[in-house]
Order: sequence, then structure tokens, then C-alpha cells
Amino acid sequence: MPGKKLTIFAATGGIGRQLLEQAQAAGYQVTAVARSPQKLPPGTRAVASDLAAPDPEALASAVQGADAVLSGLGARSASEAGVAWQGTRAIVQAMKATGVRRIVVVSAAPIGTVPSPGRPAPPQHDPGDGFFMRRLFSPLIKFLLRKHYAGLARMEDVLRDSGLDWTVVRPPRLTDQPATGAYRVAYGQNLRRGLFISRADVAGLMLRVLGQPETVQRAIGVAY
Ligand SMILES: NC(=O)c1ccc[n+]([C@@H]2O[C@H](COP(=O)([O-])OP(=O)(O)OC[C@H]3O[C@@H](n4cnc5c(N)ncnc54)[C@H](OP(=O)(O)O)[C@@H]3O)[C@@H](O)[C@H]2O)c1
Repeated sequence: MPGKKLTIFAATGGIGRQLLEQAQAAGYQVTAVARSPQKLPPGTRAVASDLAAPDPEALASAVQGADAVLSGLGARSASEAGVAWQGTRAIVQAMKATGVRRIVVVSAAPIGTVPSPGRPAPPQHDPGDGFFMRRLFSPLIKFLLRKHYAGLARMEDVLRDSGLDWTVVRPPRLTDQPATGAYRVAYGQNLRRGLFISRADVAGLMLRVLGQPETVQRAIGVAY
């Protein structure tokens, strides 16, 4: 959609860099938001914001006039896990203040079964997960990454409560392989035997759903 305006949060991250590159290549006018804007490619229209201590005015100026907001925000460590939901809450507030409605964010494959304050009793098992994922892998990974996942589950709460036109993308293990476009997607559930997806393909999907109104207010599982 050449000429449309996008604001990309966490544009210095693995998915964020892919979002920036692919959006610019597709002809979008991009504003990139990062806590370390010096890490962005030269010439990028940048707004600095540390989402652990967000400045509402800076965020409002970053999203003002955008046709959509994309976020690759995620905690770099367990001790920072709150940033996913607190930062997303600040982004949502800035969008409401400026009348921007469309937002696409990255969550994670197990979150459909992770309890949160807004969803205290989610299904115990994801219908897309097979026996080994349900019994072995998912419980282990949910234990190891429990702080990250609690933050992502609350982030999904923030979006569900936002009244905005949100889409959550829930990838499994991320890789740095090139984009293939050859991935599977499923609404509200994971993909059977879908263990991997590249950051480039996640970014491609996040841009693709902007033209798909049926993805509004949906969580989307994605994997090869
Ligand atoms: N790794 C996996 O296999 C996997 C699987 C499923 C889902 N996920 C989720 O997907 C997310 C994105 O993946 P990724 O590989 O792109 O992650 P990443 O490379 O760690 O990127 C995280 C982004 O969040 C930004 N960020 C963190 N704290 C911030 C703060 N206080 N203020 C502003 N920005 C902040 C980082 O900024 P800086 O560059 O300044 O640090 C970075 O741009 C992960 O965070 C995770 O929640 C990951």
C-alpha cells in the first residue's frame, strides 16, 4: 500500500527490523519508534521512546496520522517482562488519544492457554497442539518462560479491552532464515507440528493482515 503511513514500535528488534525493511520496500511511509534510535538505519524517520517509562506526548506524536501501528515489542530479559503489556498499554493510549485504530502485535504460540487477569481460565490445551506438545514441550516451555508469557498474556488482555482494531500474531520458535511466504496460519490456535517460523515471515504476515479486515480482533497462529 504505497503512500500509507505506518508506525513501527521496537523497530530495532529481530522482527522489528524486518518490519521496517519490508514496509519501506513496499512503499509505506514509516515512522520507527525505538529506545535506541541510533540503531536504526540512517534516514529512518525516528521517534525515541523507552516503553518501560513511556512519554505520552512522544508516543502520540509517533502514531499521529498513522494508518496502522505495528509492534515487535518484547522483553529482552525475564526481569523486564512487564514491558510487553505496559508498553502496549501506552501505545494503545496514544492511539486512542490520536484516533488511530489499527494495531498488529507479536505474542507467542503458547499464550492461548496462559491465564491472565482478563482471561483467568483459558482452555488447558491448544487445539492445534499434538500429544507431545501438550504433555511435554508446552508445559516445560511455559514454566521456563513463565514471566515472559505472563507479560504477553496481559498484553493480549490490553488489546482485547482496547476497543481498537487489533490483531495478535502468535509465532512458535523464531529463526533468522529469509522470508518464504510459505507458512500456515490458523485463527485462535496453533498449527499441528508447526515448531518454527522466521522473523522475516512473521513480519510479512503482520504487513499482510493490514489488508485483511477479517483478521481484526483475532489471534493468529503461524508456523511452517
Ligand atoms: N524468540 C522466540 O523464539 C520467540 C518465539 C515466540 C514469540 N516471541 C516473542 O516475539 C517477540 C519479538 O521477537 P524478536 O526476536 O523480534 O525480539 P527481540 O529481537 O528481542 O526484540 C525485542 C524488541 O523490543 C524492544 N524493547 C524491549 N524493551 C523495550 C523498552 N523498554 N522500550 C522500547 N523498546 C523495547 C527491543 O529494543 P532494543 O533493540 O532497544 O533492545 C527490541 O526492539 C519477543 O520479544 C517475544 O515476546 C519470541
